[in-house]
Amino acid sequence: MLRVGVVGCGYWGPNLIRNFNQLRDSEVIACADLAEGRLAHMKSLYPQVKTTRDYGELIASRDIDAIVVATPPTTHVQIALRALDAGKHVFVEKPLATSGADCEAMIAKAKEKGRVLMVGHTFLYTAAVNKIKELIKSGELGDILYVNTTRVNLGIFQEDINVVWDLAPHDVSILNYILDNHPQEVAAHGHSYIRQNVEDIAYLHLKYPGSIMAHVHVSWLNPNKIRETTVVGSKKMLVYDDISSLEKIRIYDKGVTVLPHYDTFGEFQLSYRFGDIFIPRLDDSEPLKVACQHFVDCTKTGVEPRSSGQHGLEVVRVIEAANNSLAHSGAVVAIDNNAQTSAPRVSSPSPKRK
Ligand SMILES: NC(=O)c1ccc[n+]([C@@H]2O[C@H](COP(=O)([O-])OP(=O)(O)OC[C@H]3O[C@@H](n4cnc5c(N)ncnc54)[C@H](O)[C@@H]3O)[C@@H](O)[C@H]2O)c1
Repeated sequence: MLRVGVVGCGYWGPNLIRNFNQLRDSEVIACADLAEGRLAHMKSLYPQVKTTRDYGELIASRDIDAIVVATPPTTHVQIALRALDAGKHVFVEKPLATSGADCEAMIAKAKEKGRVLMVGHTFLYTAAVNKIKELIKSGELGDILYVNTTRVNLGIFQEDINVVWDLAPHDVSILNYILDNHPQEVAAHGHSYIRQNVEDIAYLHLKYPGSIMAHVHVSWLNPNKIRETTVVGSKKMLVYDDISSLEKIRIYDKGVTVLPHYDTFGEFQLSYRFGDIFIPRLDDSEPLKVACQHFVDCTKTGVEPRSSGQHGLEVVRVIEAANNSLAHSGAVVAIDNNAQTSAPRVSSPSPKRK
């Protein structure tokens, strides 16, 4: 039985408490939050769970094996490092931290202490994303040409981070996972319409190896909630709609072929293929429950989590570089994934935005 302490009982923390309580081989012993009201609410739902305003009590407790961090992103590194130092396994909500250097410190500490560090990139535990990965790997879609993602709705405006830090980690995590690679460079444009200097809308343009392009649109300022990913391959194309309950993935047997032989420009012809649309059946388990079970299993087996500290670091490097680009009016920023500490280089000397 893995005994869990949860830090942060705001919007997302209660989902983690529910899942770790429902699993057969884990239980939540205590939770911490700065807000008394949130603690009182947790106590009303789970009378057996201890509550405290001081997360240090959870870290010091001998009755707790693992700490789950669901606080605002700028606080992750401090809480996670203290917990790892005390010998706890740690599950940190996304993004792992707000700098590559902080992620590296967490990874090094987990290694030193021989403890599991996992980041809550929930989408890696969805049946849909795993189906897409499988379709790409098997060659069913052909060569991947480009990917387009849209993650927009009205709010929730975050206090300590912009929309790129809030929403884009999901898309970058999905892209890195399904393409089994990480981007070489990013250029980002965005704007702060509601609050000064906190971008609420952004467009990220990513370049992956093999001329694969990806475009990520994130916004807190959109009338409709859209969670859509389009993957265009040389053989087939697919659309993943995370909002749809029954038809999350539609695979289109559509494509364009350049006819191989022509002598003059006038003879240049394209052949368009409009084939069937296939909707695969997908398992409908709650992704967060699958993620929590995976964390518990990793603490028992010592196996590296699918959303490991390294995966979290690679996502944060992209988000860090995208913010660097935003600050330099969309300049292309190289992402060096072999760097010991991530130091994105800006290839255009545009002045920093006010
Ligand atoms: N995986 C997902 O799909 C998903 C979805 C939503 C949020 N998240 C992530 O979950 C984390 C929390 O987001 P949220 O929307 O719940 O934020 P929130 O602001 O609603 O809740 C954060 C809570 O942490 C508490 N807190 C802050 N500092 C603390 C401290 N030092 N000690 C104890 N408690 C402290 C706050 O009082 C608040 O109740 C973020 O990292 C966010 O990115 C993940």
